[in-house]
Amino acid sequence: MDKPRGRGYNQKAMAGKDTPCTVLISREQIAAAVSRLAAEISRDYRDRRPLLVAVLKGAFIFLADLVRLLDFPLEVEFIRLSSYGQGKKSSGKVKVVHGLGTEVRGRHVLVIEDIVDTGLTTSFLLDYLKKKKVASVRLCSLTDKPSRRQVPVNIDYLGFTVPDRFLVGYGIDWDEKFRYLPDICFVGEE
Ligand code: IMP
Repeated sequence: MDKPRGRGYNQKAMAGKDTPCTVLISREQIAAAVSRLAAEISRDYRDRRPLLVAVLKGAFIFLADLVRLLDFPLEVEFIRLSSYGQGKKSSGKVKVVHGLGTEVRGRHVLVIEDIVDTGLTTSFLLDYLKKKKVASVRLCSLTDKPSRRQVPVNIDYLGFTVPDRFLVGYGIDWDEKFRYLPDICFVGEE
């Protein structure tokens, strides 16, 4: 990705008492991207009463910021999938841990993701929704790590392309830690 300019890039922060981290995408850059995505989604979904399906837990802050910029009828659902065990490595096997609370058949579904990494989780979810006979399904992801991709995934609405670093903050965790950071960071120093 282009190096973010101004406040943020290379900014040192502390993710915990002994854990330095480096800001990759500042809160201002995130806010600008969320506004841009909201404008694109508004243009395409204004009259479709979409169902936004956010993938827990990582997408919860992104979803919360995004929906507050959408001024047309929509609904929100959550799904929780597991692919990562503890730590930073994907197990590769995806399963539904907490399913959808509503009927999705015939709905225009927009999946809200935090990161598309190997693509295994997202492609599983898109197939899962298609099998449920949704009217349409598209993907909005805050970040994309294309260098890690194992299966192709088409991202319809994308915030940032990011390098192959393990990211935390703005809802994204490392073993449940660091979700609360307002910027997107990587643990460690440059
Ligand atoms: P994928 O199945 O490899 O594409 O991974 C998708 C999910 O893995 C994301 O929604 C995240 O929850 C998690 N993930 C992937 N990369 C990172 C990272 O850099 N930090 C934290 N979680 C990640």
